Amino acid sequence: MNSDKTEKIYPAGYEPAVSIKEEPHIRNQLLNEILKTVPGEYVDTDLFAVMAKRRSTRKFSEKIVETEKIDKVIAAADTAPTAGNFQGFEIYYVKSPEKKQQLIEACNRQPYVNAPVVLVFCKNPSRVKLDFPQDILKKFAIQDATLAAAYSQLAAQALGLSSIWIGMLDEEKVMKVIGTEHIPSSILCIGYPEQKKFPKPRRNLKELVHVVY
Ligand SMILES: Cc1cc2nc3c(=O)[nH]c(=O)nc-3n(C[C@H](O)[C@H](O)[C@H](O)COP(=O)(O)O)c2cc1C
Repeated sequence: MNSDKTEKIYPAGYEPAVSIKEEPHIRNQLLNEILKTVPGEYVDTDLFAVMAKRRSTRKFSEKIVETEKIDKVIAAADTAPTAGNFQGFEIYYVKSPEKKQQLIEACNRQPYVNAPVVLVFCKNPSRVKLDFPQDILKKFAIQDATLAAAYSQLAAQALGLSSIWIGMLDEEKVMKVIGTEHIPSSILCIGYPEQKKFPKPRRNLKELVHVVY
């Protein structure tokens, strides 16, 4: 009985490291179990330190990313706020080396798209069951997908991983590669960095903030 249920919950090829006995009445059971796990290696739980240290990486080491960490990166996306909590986004977890190679081409030939972990964040406005015009629902779905990817990106950093956000992509080509009708908003390429780098400079906060009286 249970194994039947397990097959229904996990898409083929995605099997979280934690093993739970499903209890349908427990809210967010799998999500919370994954969030609670502490992967063997050091995890930075100081959110502000994670933010301060994050730096994009375009060169990944060969080191394999542990399933526990991938689970947490994906779970982090699921904790992001979404419009009306309708979760107007989807994640495509690209495992096939051939498809990663095709994604390079679909992303303006950016070679680092062939990363150890490749997550394509797509918009799914049809999930957003709010009584607003279609253009608003589409805007919500972009925001949902973007926020989710940002949460995953921070989670990756907290787990000692690094990432590069890919926005320069050909939507049609990416959709063809991953085989979906959902329009991609970004691709998060994740892995262990070949080299840890210092964060990039930002404009002064004084220039960023505009006070409206
Ligand atoms: C919306 C968006 C689109 C981006 N697209 C790309 C991209 O296609 N290729 C790439 O190499 N980096 C891309 N980046 C990464 C940025 O170049 C990078 O975040 C920026 O230089 C700041 O560096 P940091 O992430 O290390 O702070 C993108 C980032 C964002 C937020």
